[in-house]
Amino acid sequence: MHGMADPVTVHPGLGLTRWIWGLFLLVMALGGCRQSAKEPVTLTFLNPEWSQPDEAPRAEYAAQQFTRETGIRLRHPPVPETSLSQLELSRELLQKGGPGPDVLGMDVIWPGILEEYLTDLRPYFATEISSLDPDLVASYTVNSKLVAMPYHAQVGVLAYRTDLLREYGYNHPPRTWDELESMAARIQTGERAKGRKEFWGYVWQGAAEEGLTCNALEWQFAEGGGRIIENDKTISVDNPAAIRAWRRARHWIGWISPPSVVAYRELDSMNVWESGGAAFRRTWQWHYRLTHRQESVLSDRTGYTSMPGGPGGRVGTLGGTGLAVSVQSAHPHEAVELVRFLIRRELQSQEESARAQPPSQPEVYDLPSVLGSDGHSDTPNEPKSGVVSRPSNVAASEYEKVTRAYIAAVHAVLTGQKRAPEAAAELEKQLIKITGFRTGPPKTAD
Ligand code: GLC
Repeated sequence: MHGMADPVTVHPGLGLTRWIWGLFLLVMALGGCRQSAKEPVTLTFLNPEWSQPDEAPRAEYAAQQFTRETGIRLRHPPVPETSLSQLELSRELLQKGGPGPDVLGMDVIWPGILEEYLTDLRPYFATEISSLDPDLVASYTVNSKLVAMPYHAQVGVLAYRTDLLREYGYNHPPRTWDELESMAARIQTGERAKGRKEFWGYVWQGAAEEGLTCNALEWQFAEGGGRIIENDKTISVDNPAAIRAWRRARHWIGWISPPSVVAYRELDSMNVWESGGAAFRRTWQWHYRLTHRQESVLSDRTGYTSMPGGPGGRVGTLGGTGLAVSVQSAHPHEAVELVRFLIRRELQSQEESARAQPPSQPEVYDLPSVLGSDGHSDTPNEPKSGVVSRPSNVAASEYEKVTRAYIAAVHAVLTGQKRAPEAAAELEKQLIKITGFRTGPPKTAD
């Protein structure tokens, strides 16, 4: 691996998660199969969102409500923190056969990889699908099969401290990376002068994980450096704009971002933010979060805006989860019922929040259209703007290899192990080998 440690370290929690899963499967094998026709059905729901510490109360409430309404019980065992580890665990459990997850929450980038283990949900959700964003549905579709129902569409956004921006004389959040740099540097200097020696301008996710692909894609697209692999299946990553964008990020480290940012996952950046230790943070946003701001720490001092832009535009990466049903589920009917319940609940929550009074809204500026400028104004078939997708649809079953190679290349630049032009050239060769695609210039729009 070019002289560096395996870039995709397995999350330390994965060992423990596997152990818990092992025990769980054993109990299922011994007792679960005695479940008689009269006993209530119990579904196993593998859901990364419900494993996040801040989601726990909401998860419990939803699970109880589902059981009350349907009589179907739910188990939702723990899931590791990062998307790559979640993929590993899901694949392992689905490949194993036997009792495993009935329903899975799945990252938008994995359908091409897990497709063979999952049920086509199109026949069950025809009405719901027709009212969903077609691009979103396409993200979960492989060879006309709807591998998962779109559930939470997330977009990368910039969170900013409204109080600090005001204090330092800024009347709007940054629109470009140049602006972000100068604001972050100035606020950081000012806060440190007040004695807050550990204060940083900008925190983001630099660990060798999927979060880095999302961050780096936003940097390079904004610079005019394209989408790594374009929608027409040309590999465009080795270009001067992408190289400039990676170099710029390297320059932040130790200047406006902490040296340890190269090991930050989502929760690390969230911890720094929630302790009041940063002026800006790259995060994920979706409707629920925007309209239930009271649930987050510092909610009265947090604003959200699109990620900063550059000559290539201004974009946030499309993220989020879909809900899938395992082809091996012993309770496919109940599993579909759970998916239906969660989707319906989500739509209700969006409708309720659309009626919510303005005081419950956080301060938002120029959000990507998938969220709407007021956090909930998009309509299903409105074209999205300000959103970029990772090349998971074009790379399909090879996306994991593509993203691992990209993560390794960008991480090596950030940690100074490789120069950016060298990393980009090597990455291009790897991507040709992985996908068999040809190379081409980066594109800013389709
Ligand atoms: C969020 C997104 C997901 C992305 C991940 C990266 O969970 O929803 O799409 O892959 O973050 O860390």
